[in-house]
Amino acid sequence: MKSVQYMEPKNGETLVHTTIIRNIGLLLTMRQDTNDLLGAVAHAAVVMRGPRIIYAGPEKDLPADYRSGGTCTEIDAHQAVVTPGLIDSHTHVVFAGDRADEFQARHAGADYEEIQRLNGGIHRTVRETRAASYQSLRAAAIERLQSMRRHGTTTVEGKTGYGLEYAAEEKVLNVMRALADEPYLPDVIPTFLGAHIIPAEFRNNRSLYVQHVIQNMAPAFQAQARFCDVYCEASAFSVPETKAILESARALGYMLKMHTNQSHDIGGAALAADLGVISADHLDYVQDEDIQKLAGAGVIATLLPGCSFSMQTAFPNAHRFLERGAVVALASDYNPGTCNCENLQMIMALAVAHCSLTIEQSLQAVTVNAAKALALPDRGHIAAGKRADALIWKIRDYREIGYHFGVNLVDQVIISGAVL
Ligand code: NIG
Ligand code: FE
Repeated sequence: MKSVQYMEPKNGETLVHTTIIRNIGLLLTMRQDTNDLLGAVAHAAVVMRGPRIIYAGPEKDLPADYRSGGTCTEIDAHQAVVTPGLIDSHTHVVFAGDRADEFQARHAGADYEEIQRLNGGIHRTVRETRAASYQSLRAAAIERLQSMRRHGTTTVEGKTGYGLEYAAEEKVLNVMRALADEPYLPDVIPTFLGAHIIPAEFRNNRSLYVQHVIQNMAPAFQAQARFCDVYCEASAFSVPETKAILESARALGYMLKMHTNQSHDIGGAALAADLGVISADHLDYVQDEDIQKLAGAGVIATLLPGCSFSMQTAFPNAHRFLERGAVVALASDYNPGTCNCENLQMIMALAVAHCSLTIEQSLQAVTVNAAKALALPDRGHIAAGKRADALIWKIRDYREIGYHFGVNLVDQVIISGAVL
């Protein structure tokens, strides 16, 4: 990539702070308009004005007047790798309590779905989240988001789904709205997952709960959530229930997501393709012909290898998706049950070691493709006009990612132009 990109500051932007990263050994722009998967530029610089990038390209072509107006910070990257901020497009970041005991019991032979049938698992986190104060939920989520940020995540999708009653779902959405206003935290994108499981008090009348989601909660929360998600699984919502909830959510203006084919294939992936949801997530047990349908419908296939790792189940094979033309994203699925991991670098390491993704494909999966899974075209790659989210890594060779695992390879995180 040789082209020089420079946007004149618009009127009124002249006093905005400028941040420049110089002496970048290798800038992975992740732009998709080059032949190279990474959109790599050697000896590069990036200029950010306020919350936007105004230049990304070779340092020698840096516009002479990039400092014009306002204040300026210069960062020397010391020849390190720079990438876009990572995007975690599937998390359950707001909840109370933890389930370390269940995790250890599972590894001693207890079964996840059996624990749930006995009112543990998701039911337990629902009880604790309902009982928790707004303040304590917010404080716990801030700590998790700070950990995500330290590991390079600059945008986090967050789901409800541990409330499963009007007041508690609303409380979680209010927490997410407040988090979005916190400075120096990853941008939080809310998803309404009222259909996570059937709550215990509706166990003998599941259709009443489905109606409650459709008639009361989904209409009330539309202004606060970008997506509506349903967990379509034998232990959660059936295909007809999922279809009814998502069709009504779409009519309300939500974009759609599905948790599906995590433990069984009950036909959820085919439904995801028929509905044309933005992303279908998990997809551990899925037939080739449904992968083909998902690819044809432009549904992003979001793989969550942290769950496979933590649940000791088979890893999804990303190659099956890529060879059928599907776009693959990777996310953490950060939650207290199936994946208690805030670190997308670890998820990339798992994808490279166990899901047959290359490191280049993994980087795409947590940047540009994850942005697609959130329908956020303003991020996931570094180019003039995009959100000023970027990472300065500690490494000079990006192939260290995945290879050198279990440690944090990110040095500095820039979120919306703010250097942390
Ligand atoms: O994405 N699949 C359903 N929900 C979560 C797990 C939630 C939990 O166990 O608390 C998931 O894996
Ligand atoms: Fe999930």
